[in-house]
Amino acid sequence: MNEKIAQLLNTQINKELYSAYLYLDMSNFYDEQDLDGYANYYMIQAQEERDHALLFMKYMQNNGLKVTLDAIDKPDKVFENILAPLTAALEHEKYVTSLINNIYHEAHEAKDYRTMKFLDWFVNEQMEEEDNADSMVKKYKLFGQDPKGLYLLDQEYAARVYNAPSLVL
Ligand code: FEO
Repeated sequence: MNEKIAQLLNTQINKELYSAYLYLDMSNFYDEQDLDGYANYYMIQAQEERDHALLFMKYMQNNGLKVTLDAIDKPDKVFENILAPLTAALEHEKYVTSLINNIYHEAHEAKDYRTMKFLDWFVNEQMEEEDNADSMVKKYKLFGQDPKGLYLLDQEYAARVYNAPSLVL
C-alpha cells in the first residue's frame, strides 16, 4: 500500500480516539449539569468513536501494515453553556468528514480501490454524524431554552442505546 495512505490511516486512529475523548469530556460536562440524557448520548458517542478507531486499526492489520499508537490530545474546550458542546460537536464532525474525504481523495489518486471501498462506510457514517449533530443544535435552539422542553430533550437522549458498528472487518 501507498505509504502516504498508510500514514493517513494510522493518523485517523488517533483522530478517532481523540473524538472519543472529546465526547467523554462533553458527557462529563452534561453529567455535572444533571442532564443525564445528554450525558448518556455523548457517552455512547464516545463508544462509537472508539469503534471507529478500532476499525481503522483492524483494516491496517488486515493489510499487514504496522500500527503506531500516538498520544491522544487533551480535550481542552471550556463549555460556557448547554449549547456550546452541541455546536462544538457539529464543528468537530465536519472536521472529521474533511479528514475522511482527504484519505478518500488520496486513495482515489493512488487507485487504491480497496481503501476506497473500506472508506465508503465512513463516508456514509459522517453524513449521519453531521446530521445528528446538526439536529441536536437545532432542537436545542427550538425547545431547549424552556425548562420543560429541555427536560423532554434530555429524556429523548437518555433513550439512546449503544449499537456495535454495522461494518465488520
Ligand atoms: Fe468517527 Fe464522529 O466520526
